[in-house]
Amino acid sequence: MSLPFNVASHLDTAVRAAAAKLGLADRGFQPEVRVADPANGDYQANGALAFAKREKQNPRALAQQIVDELGGLQADYDISLAGPGFINFRLKPAALLAWLQTYDSEEHLQSGAASARHGQTWIVDYSSPNTAKQMHVGHLRSAVIGEAICRLLTFSGAKVIRDNHIGDWGTQFGKLIWAYKRHLDPAALDADPLEEFERLYKAGNSAAEADPAVLTEAQQELVKLQAGDAANLAVWKTINDVSLAAFQEIYDRLGIKFDAMLGESFYNDKVDRVYRELTGTGLAQPSEGALVVFHPEHPRFAQQPFIIRKSDGAANYASSDLATALYRAEHFKVDGIIVVTDFRQADHFEQLYLTVRKWFAAENYRLPELHHVTFGSVNGEDGKALKTRDGGIIRLKALLDEATERSYQLVSSKNPDFPEAERRAIADIVGVASVQYADLSQNRSSDYVFAWDKMISLEGNTAAYLLYAVARIRSIFRKAGLDAAMPPLADATAPETPQEIALARKLGKFPDAVQLATNTLRPHFLSLHLYELAGEFSTFYAADKVIVDDPAVRARRLLLCHRTLVELEAGLHLLGLRTDLERM
Ligand code: ARG
Repeated sequence: MSLPFNVASHLDTAVRAAAAKLGLADRGFQPEVRVADPANGDYQANGALAFAKREKQNPRALAQQIVDELGGLQADYDISLAGPGFINFRLKPAALLAWLQTYDSEEHLQSGAASARHGQTWIVDYSSPNTAKQMHVGHLRSAVIGEAICRLLTFSGAKVIRDNHIGDWGTQFGKLIWAYKRHLDPAALDADPLEEFERLYKAGNSAAEADPAVLTEAQQELVKLQAGDAANLAVWKTINDVSLAAFQEIYDRLGIKFDAMLGESFYNDKVDRVYRELTGTGLAQPSEGALVVFHPEHPRFAQQPFIIRKSDGAANYASSDLATALYRAEHFKVDGIIVVTDFRQADHFEQLYLTVRKWFAAENYRLPELHHVTFGSVNGEDGKALKTRDGGIIRLKALLDEATERSYQLVSSKNPDFPEAERRAIADIVGVASVQYADLSQNRSSDYVFAWDKMISLEGNTAAYLLYAVARIRSIFRKAGLDAAMPPLADATAPETPQEIALARKLGKFPDAVQLATNTLRPHFLSLHLYELAGEFSTFYAADKVIVDDPAVRARRLLLCHRTLVELEAGLHLLGLRTDLERM
């Protein structure tokens, strides 16, 4: 007996087929299979109710007719009717065992999941900071959420292109180059380049404010840069290279590797086509010297134009994002585009995507799926945007360092006897994981409160709690003298005690959680599953001793330990976390 990876979609197919036999399919019957309240079963098909209401039939009788057609499922499921016409399915222990035997490794979980987007190509635009500036907390959220989304999509079978869409072509370069040429402090550049660029930008900015002649000079520097002046391009390139190297340190710590870094400057020579085509198709029109797109059908964008070229003739964020969308569709032939930024860019992307849809339709270009994945702001415990104590912006490096240091304190207080080097190594993993997980454990749409004590704790829905569960299971195997990577579990039997069964049922819900997280592009659905799984494991572990003399009992409990480890690790890896610790 071998069960499908995703039991819910298997049941969906079976109920659909039963309904078709009864002649309900043409009349719009939908199975509506979902995860059930564990008290009722594993899955529930609710479709009979809505259908019977519509057709003025008795829902319970209809549900019973469907159940009568589901005879083939009786081997694996207890099927029962509940309430006014819900059909409940509960996996039998032998079926649970069959599932656990098939999905015995991260690799097999992935091959089970990988079909949904098989053969598709998706591009994910994330992190995407601006050069010559510090990366801020928003870019960290984008990096963490974006990376998890990339991994979820890959798991579902897609080919993913990770693109860091660097902001490297802004108007800030006029003032910056002006100041760079006059006020550069080479020692400061060496010590902390981003700091020095920020100082130079501020110097350029205040000089330009104080003296109109400076402002003109700065504008000319920008014009020269955009026209390809060699000296200015060299300064610009230095600034970008140095910035990227600083960003790279953060990406290394987060385990992020981009496939492409096509920043705004890359699209500089591709915006003319955008102007031409949008004008040619009648979508764009001149307005006070600028080129704009209105969306007459939209409540706000009928009046508020999407400015795609500024009145001074310069390209802007909109022009470069339009060129970017076309390039992704034509060059990478993507099936889907995802851009991850904070919610304040919602209007920009709504106008962008409205424009792209009309433009591609007019030109007969193949339209990829377009997603803007947004997230809320990061606030301090006072509810205000996160700042340093003196009101400055938080340096990400300092933030990750503090997380690591606090994790070191936590690990040391729990395990004062571990060697110092090991405590440091564990803290490196737990620190970064805590920052990532704090973000991924909550719905990305909400603002999130950055609270160290909640984030780095062994209690609650935290990285440390889950990593502790991982380490604890590893130590069960170590103490039993078994290799956790490949324990001998071939003759394990079906779960028996209530706690064994509850844990096995929870394990079988992994596909649902992954699918929900992937389809909604919301990783917290997966986090929630992992947290609940770890809780179910604790309950099991407290109730049922694993290393007992009876070889049959021992084998079936070790199987549950092993599959919990596999699933926790697979899930944490999908979220972008490292799990390579032996004990904690
Ligand atoms: N550089 C932008 C910022 O810091 C984010 C870019 C996001 N990607 C895009 N294609 N617009 O806000």
